[in-house]
Amino acid sequence: MKKVLIAGLILASAATIASADAYAKCAGCHGAAGEKSALNKSKIIKDMSKADIVAAIKGYQAGTYGGPMKGLMAGQVKGLSDADAQAIANKIGK
Ligand code: HEC
Repeated sequence: MKKVLIAGLILASAATIASADAYAKCAGCHGAAGEKSALNKSKIIKDMSKADIVAAIKGYQAGTYGGPMKGLMAGQVKGLSDADAQAIANKIGK
C-alpha cells in the first residue's frame, strides 16, 4: 500500500515537471513567443494580459469562451491544470 502511494507521488511530481513547458505544443500555431495569429484566426496572444490568457484557456475548457474555432482550442487545452494555464500565461502574456 505504501509503495503504491510513493509511486503515485513520484508520478505526480514527474507530471508537474513535464508541464513546465506546457506551451511547447502551442508554439506551432501561436509562434514560439505567442507572436503569431494562429491559423490567421486568433488574437496575437502575446499582446493579451496574463489574466486574459488564463481566462481564455479556462473558458475554452469550459466551453464558455471563443470564436468559430473554439472547438479546436478546446482540444488543445484539454487536460491543462490551473498551474499549467498560469505557467503559460506567465511565459507568453504581458
Ligand atoms: C492547431 C493550431 C493551434 C494550436 C496548436 C493552439 N491554438 Fe490556441 N488558438 C488557435 C485558434 C485558431 C484560435 C482562435 C479560436 C477561436 O475561434 O476562438 C486560438 C485561440 C487561442 C487563445 C485566445 C485568443 C483569442 O483569439 O481569443 C489563446 C489564449 C490560445 N489560443 C492559447 C493556446 C494555448 C495555450 C495552446 C497550447 C496549449 C494553443 N492555443 C494551441 C489555434 C491553435
